[in-house]
Parts: sequence; structure tokens; C-alpha cells
Amino acid sequence: MAKVKAFGILLVLCGFYISQSESVCGYESCPATKPGMINIHMVPHSHDDLGWLKTVDQYYYGSRQGIQHSGAKYIFESVVTELSKDSRRRFIQVETGFFAKWWQDQSEITKHIVKKLVNEGRMEFTGGGWSMNDEAAVNYQSVIDQFTVGLKFLNENFGECGRPRIGWQIDAFGHSREQASMFAQMGFDGQFFARMDMTDKNKRVDNLGLEMIWDASETLKEMDFFTGMLYQHYSAPSGFCFDTRCGDEPIIDGDSYDNNVKSRVDEFINYAANLAQKYRSTHIMVPMGDDFHYENAIVNYENMDKLIKYVNERQASGSKYNLIYSTAGCYLNSLHQSLQSFPNKTQDFLPHSHEAKSFWTGFFTSRPTAKRFERDGNHILQVAKQLSVLANLSSEKQAKDLDYLRQIMGIMQHHDAITGTEKQEVSNDYDRLMYDAILGGADTARDALRVLTNQPNGEFQSCLRLNISECAFTKDNADNFVVTLYNPLAHTATQYVRVPVKNQNYEVTDAKGRVVPSEIVPVPWQVLALEFRSNETQHELVFKATANKIASYNIKKVDKEESSDVIPQNNKSRQDTSTHDDGETVVQTSQIKLVIDNQTGRLKTVEMNGLSEKVEQSFGMYKTARSCHYIFRQDEDLQIVDDAYEFSVYEGDLVKEVHQQVNEWISQVIRIYEGGDHVEFEWLVGPIPVDDNLGKEIVTIFQSDISNNGVFYTDSNGREMLRREKDWREDFTPDLSEQPVSGNYYPVTSRIALQDNSRRMTLLNDRSQGGTSLQNGRLEMMLHRRHLFRDGSGADEAINEQQYGKGLIARGKLYLSLSAVEDEPTALERIAEKKIHLPFWKFFSKESVKEVKQSLPDFNDFPESVHLLTLEPFSKDEILFRVENFLDQTEGSVISFNIRSIFDLLGGQSIRETTLDGNMALSDMKRLKFHHDGAGPSHSTPEYFTSLHKPLEAEKSQEDGDFSVTLKPMQIRTFIIKKELS
Ligand SMILES: *[C@@H]1O[C@H](CO)[C@@H](O)[C@H](O)[C@H]1NC(C)=O
Ligand SMILES: *[C@@H]1O[C@H](CO)[C@@H](O)[C@H](O)[C@H]1NC(C)=O
Ligand SMILES: [Zn+2]
Repeated sequence: MAKVKAFGILLVLCGFYISQSESVCGYESCPATKPGMINIHMVPHSHDDLGWLKTVDQYYYGSRQGIQHSGAKYIFESVVTELSKDSRRRFIQVETGFFAKWWQDQSEITKHIVKKLVNEGRMEFTGGGWSMNDEAAVNYQSVIDQFTVGLKFLNENFGECGRPRIGWQIDAFGHSREQASMFAQMGFDGQFFARMDMTDKNKRVDNLGLEMIWDASETLKEMDFFTGMLYQHYSAPSGFCFDTRCGDEPIIDGDSYDNNVKSRVDEFINYAANLAQKYRSTHIMVPMGDDFHYENAIVNYENMDKLIKYVNERQASGSKYNLIYSTAGCYLNSLHQSLQSFPNKTQDFLPHSHEAKSFWTGFFTSRPTAKRFERDGNHILQVAKQLSVLANLSSEKQAKDLDYLRQIMGIMQHHDAITGTEKQEVSNDYDRLMYDAILGGADTARDALRVLTNQPNGEFQSCLRLNISECAFTKDNADNFVVTLYNPLAHTATQYVRVPVKNQNYEVTDAKGRVVPSEIVPVPWQVLALEFRSNETQHELVFKATANKIASYNIKKVDKEESSDVIPQNNKSRQDTSTHDDGETVVQTSQIKLVIDNQTGRLKTVEMNGLSEKVEQSFGMYKTARSCHYIFRQDEDLQIVDDAYEFSVYEGDLVKEVHQQVNEWISQVIRIYEGGDHVEFEWLVGPIPVDDNLGKEIVTIFQSDISNNGVFYTDSNGREMLRREKDWREDFTPDLSEQPVSGNYYPVTSRIALQDNSRRMTLLNDRSQGGTSLQNGRLEMMLHRRHLFRDGSGADEAINEQQYGKGLIARGKLYLSLSAVEDEPTALERIAEKKIHLPFWKFFSKESVKEVKQSLPDFNDFPESVHLLTLEPFSKDEILFRVENFLDQTEGSVISFNIRSIFDLLGGQSIRETTLDGNMALSDMKRLKFHHDGAGPSHSTPEYFTSLHKPLEAEKSQEDGDFSVTLKPMQIRTFIIKKELS
């Protein structure tokens, strides 16, 4: 809707004039439609995966065409040329990651042409995230980030006309409610996608329900979000794919024996007539495109031109079909103008299945180590962003490294990256990208710490192999070193810190020289046995640390005598393997008591929070022959590993551990910390054997006596919880006849829980996994998977990850809590979830670290339920600052706090509020509101949503009261702080 003023630039190029005159983009630039007719909105698009069968760069440059023909860079070139030829032509551009790569290499002339196309609505950015993100395995923080970086690129280069208004999630494998909510909060008008459970889809076809209004939040108001399901995937109607990659007939209209205009137009009108029956209004949308189409766009556009010409020619003889070039936005605008009402939707579209025997629930867990690595990427990204702001970093390299990490994290959200559905080679390439990007982020964080501690040569090294208790730094400097902790959360936190060390005595002191209790715990022998692990450190030093933002602890080797008075105690850890009799082994802290059955070696009961419950944990597997990257296809019943587990117990004053050997390739540490409110389960799974020629899905089970009657809860992208019920879906009866287990799996990206009237059992996790509750009182989580089935329609190889010449070994953590429902434990679960998602980041140095020199903003004044969702450099003189009230309506209330002192400490001159993505003034947000079925008569004019609250906008000179921020439950508010350029 934005108008772009003339600059009077006139360019003569290739013989045609391009003048930048008064132009319009947005809905004002939409093609005219014809009342009384079926208006067919033909939407040219190209679906460009940031990696899948080929790597990102292979897709971009068009290499290795034998695997899949592609060449994203040629698409842009070709589409721009074709669009320039005829002002009616349209194209929607989706994945900003590829587009930005192309843009940086373009001449000023090309850029000028593209800007003109954008300013006239002929090329319309749609979606616009760095990638088209997955919706099942992603965390909301990373989705917001990946849209922020994508939309920022568009905003910087195209201004208002570059702003997408439509979510284009056409290839994601199921759809989350949180994604719809985030789109609404970004001010988007609606979204389209193309995958839905086939039973659901069939029913919606019958009920005219393919388009709906998603009530995308139980807690937030006005999160209505228009959502449209495409009728026939996202490809062109069969027979009408004109792309060079298709074999469909072109339109032959000349004086030729082969002239096929009549039959082609008949066919197309038949298709449109059928489609029009499936949708409510007199407008229908026909996507024209597919994966990496439009590389030679002349073929596409010439044939579409002809199709338009001959379809519309029939209007003279009474045809009611009007075919136009359009965009997803223009189609949605037409629906909005039509005042049509739509049915509502309140749950989500997970899991996806395209046939009764194929639920896409395997990818919730596929590539468990890559899924964890992605979380590490987010972790260092948040740390590096915050530290960059706090230290006011300004070098080009630092900005570049941070941008690179942002972009790689954008790529990782792609629906073939975090999902693990890509080919192995591509997965390796993602690892490479992530590794480089993380190193850059760690460098940036180090630079910031150097500034903040006034130690220009401070080492502040990061260790990336702490998950296997390995760190080169502590190995080489094992006698004397410093660990500096950075806390990315808003509030001061106390956490147990573990550092790989040799088996010696250490003294840990805090910044004030006070001795901090610590102890040494042996690393499980199963971890020591990993051949690829350097074996010099075989223990971990454990201590309890507290950090507001930055805290350093000195670790020094001491003689035994010296230490024993002070430290309560290093080598006290006791290995107890003696009591494997009929009885039980009790391991307890002052909060939690675990009982291990000596006969089986398995956990039997857990006592905590005033409850004493049966919690039997076991491991099991589904052996299957036809599971693939995407799909978990169950053949046989769950097979529990029911041999007795060997176990040993290590008890210190700070931590107690039960080390279990489950079988030859599964082991686990069950761990409780003094003062902790969770039981940690650190599992180690792999190499999964496949010598019986069967693939395997490895799960762990927690069986309680809680009678949840089939009801359980899973998170949506780490935010609101969704109620699940075994064998149940919101809008339809799922066909579970062939896959009753797989069809009951849901994505768990942070939390799964079940409860009855009095008791609740919750598992938190450290990466995306699939989870379910198939029996009363039971939670099940899929940890790892390995298969031999080569899925022809997907990656065309089995998901059979190898590392170091063997099947992949994965390690990770689950966190269990038991609580009384009346204690309303869910708010505490959310706090724990934040600590698991963004724990302290550890930096290692030799030299002791001085006090932080400048006063840092203190977020402790914020109410307890405020999450510091983002603090990052936004431009040279701007900071993006995002706060979230992470409690929902049942857990929390409206909170208020003042950000004046933060603003001042950050050097703020002015502050403004934006939509969730940071790229549009909230006061400019005006998104389409659609009318619900059964909500009374429609208004006579189209309606819109605007911000429910007055956007914050203030100058430094204004009084403190103007810097007050109110957050309703679950509300996120995004601000841009403009600061003085130093
Ligand atoms: C959506 O549908 C549910 C169930 O039919 C109904 O209770 C709810 O009020 C509807 N929401 C809106 C906004 O119409
Ligand atoms: C590391 O050392 C331990 C014993 O000290 C041994 O059990 C283990 O196998 C070693 N690991 C490797 C990879 O050699
Ligand atoms: Zn795709």
C-alpha cells in the first residue's frame, strides 16, 4: 500500500526506458478483477530449498545437476528480465537467503530495475524469512530471528514495498499454531501452505473448509490469522507446467497443424471450474511453479501470457472465467474485499500424513546430533548478540561474523535442515557452515569480554565438545584456569557448572576470592570409551555458580591436605557397586529421592515436591523396515530392553549420579543436584545396530501411575502448550488403522507433560524430539533413529548416519519433574525451560579475570516472568530489544516495568516499538481481519487489526514514565533503541 516518490531517475537500458515515476506496491498494485466472474489468480513462484538433495551453494550455483536440476541465481536473473517485458506479469519471491546472495553481486542498473519491479508490485516478496522454516522442530526464538534477518534485508534494500505480508509455508511438513501466531505478531495478513493430513484435507474439501481463520493463541487476544490450504500441492495444475523442467505441452497458437489452443483452454477452464467448487469465494488461486522452476522464465511467461489471452478471449462469448497474473497477497486481498466468512481453527496441523500408513513423525527426531548442534548455534548467537551490545562492539569483522551466524541460523531453520530430511552430504555441509559460524560468534563474544573486562589479550575460549566432557583448554591448563560464565537470561541465575578436568584436587574461588564448594565426578566409562575422544581428562569438576550477566571462577589445582579443610569434598564421590541384591538402592538429595531396583537396575520411584510416585524408566525400540528421514513407519510392537541394567552410584555433596549400562549401545547417567528441582537423564545411544537388516527407532519410556486418560500436553515451538489426546484430532477422525503409534507422535521441542487431578509428570528436553503418551501414565520420547530403507521420494538414501566409521552415537538430556497439580507447577517448568534453552555459556582463560569495568544494564528489576528474548545490534546506531512475558493466561498476569535505566545504560537517544520482526513500526501495522462463520452478519466494509496497545515511542528528553512497558501473559514486545553514535 506504500507509495514511493519519484526520483526522476531515467535509465536507458537494452533499448527500453525505465523511469521511476510515482508507483504503487502492495494491494493498490493488484491486478483488476472482474465482478461476476471466477477470477483465477495465477501466482508464479519458485520453491528454492536452502539445501536438501544438494547443498545451499550447489543449489545456488547450479552445480551437480545430475542430482537435481537447479540454479537459484539464474532464476532471479531470468525472472527479472521476463517481468520487465510486460507490466502485467507477476512473481512472488520467497527465500531471502538465496535472493540476498544474488543481490550482492548485481550492478546498480540491475538493482534499479528490480527495485522498480518491487515498487510496482510486480515482484512481490512473500514469506521473506532467510529460509522457509520448518514448523515442528524449531524453537520460536530462532524463527523470530530468521524472519528478523530476512525482513531486515528486504527493508534495507526495498523499504516499505519490500515488506512481505503473506506467509508462504508451502512445503513445511505440518504446521504449528505458534508459527501462525508469530506471523500475526509480525503484522502479516495471512498464510498459505500445501500439506495437511489427508483425512483433514478431504473433509475440508467437502466442507469448503480449506481456508480458515486460525485462532493462533489461547492466551493472546486478536491472534486471528487467515490460513489457506492449496488444493493441489504447490505445483502448477497438471498439464500446465510450462517450465523447462516439465514435459507438459506448450500453448501452440500459430498457424500450425499442432495448434492446441482450444483443447488447452478447455482443460484449464475445467480445472478452474473444479477448483472454484472447493473454495468459497469467486476468487481462486493457482500457483504456477515448483522446486527451482523459472530458470528459463521466458518459457513460463510466454505460455502463461498465451493462456491468459485465450482463456479471457472466451469472455466475449459468455465465459465467466477471468485469468490474471497475481500474487498470493493480491488473492488474499480479493478474499478480504469479498467479505466472505471462514471457519475457525484452534489447534494445529501436526502431525502430517499423506496416506494412512505414512505419518511424518520420524523427522521430529531425525539427526539428533544436528538438532542439538542447531541449539548450540542459537545459544552462542544469543550470547554473542547480547555481548556485542553490552560491549558496544563496532568493528566490521565483528558485525560480519554476527551477521554470518544469524544467516546460517536462518538456513538451519529451513524445512530440510533442522528437520534432518536432507541427504547426508548436505547434512555434513550444514555442520560445516554451523561450525564456522559458531566460531565467528565465539570470537565476537570473546572480543566483547575483552572490552568489558579491560583485558585486551584475554583468551575467553569456547569449548565445543563439552557434551562429551572434552575441552582442549582445560586439558592443557589443568592446573590453573578461569571459567567465565555469561548468563543470557534476564535474571541472575544459579546453575551447576561442569568442567572437564583431570583426577586431581581443585579449589574453586569466585571473583571475590571466596572458596566455592566443588567436587569431582568421573565421566562414565561409556563416554571415555568413545574412540574419537581425547582421553586425557576423565573427570568433571562440579560447582554451583551464580551469574547476573558475567561471572568468573578461578580453578586451581591444590594439594590434598590443603584442600580438605576447605572443600567439602573432591574425592568423596563413592563408587558403590556392591549392593546388587534383591533390595533397592536409594539415592537422594534434600529435595529428591530416587529408588533404583537392584534387580533390574532401573529407576523405580521418584520422590519430590511432596509426592512419591512410581516412575519406571526403560529404553526400547521399534524395529522397522520402511522408516525414512520423514516418516516413522512402525512394523512391530515396541521392544523393551529388559535385561538387567548394570549400574553404579557416585555420591557427592553437590551431585549424585547413577551410571547405568542399558545394553551394549545404550547407557545413561541419572543425576540429581543438591537444591535442584529436576532429575536429569543424560542418555548415550548408538551406534544403533542394524546387522539384522532392520532399522530402529530408539525410545525411552517413563511409566507412572498417573491416570491421564489419553490426554497429554506438548509445546508449540517452545511457547504455548497444546492439549493432545491419544487417537484424537480437533477437526477429524484420524486414520490410525495402520500406524497407531506413529500417528500419535507429536513434536516436542521443549516440553511434554501428563497429569491427572492431583499429580503431574513433565519431561523437558534439550533439542527437538518426537514424543507421545500411548498408555495411561506413560510418556515416551524418541531419542535416536537409524534406518536402511531408501525412500525414493525423499533424499533417495536411507537415514543411516555414520560418524568415525560407525553408526552415529548421540548424547543428550531429558529433565523430569513430578509435582502436585495444586502447586501449579507449569510456571516453574517454563523457568526451567529457559535455563535449559539458554544456560550459562562458558569461556575459558588462563589469566584471572578482573571485574567487569563498566556498569552493565541490570534486568533483575524486571518481573520474574520477563524473558530477555533478544538484545542485539540492529544497525550501526540501533539496538533491537525484545521482551517476552513467558507465562500464559493460566500462569501469570499482566506485568509492568520500566526500561528507562536500561535505555540510558545502552546510550539510548530514542526508542520506538515495532512488530515482532523489528522491521515495521507497530503504529503502521494494519492487518487484514476476516469474518468468522457464525459470528453474525459481515460488516459492510473490510475490517483490519491494529495494535491493541499504544506503541511505545519516546525520546531521551521525555520523563521516565514514558518508558513504562506492560506485558500481558505471553506477550512479546519489540523495540528499536536509537543510540548516539560513539
Ligand atoms: C471457534 O470455534 C470454536 C468451536 O466451534 C468456538 O467455540 C469459538 O468461539 C470459535 N472462535 C471464534 C473466534 O469464532
Ligand atoms: C580412556 O581411558 C580409560 C581408562 O583410563 C579406558 O577405559 C578407555 O577405554 C580409554 N579410552 C580410549 C578411547 O582409549
Ligand atoms: Zn522445500
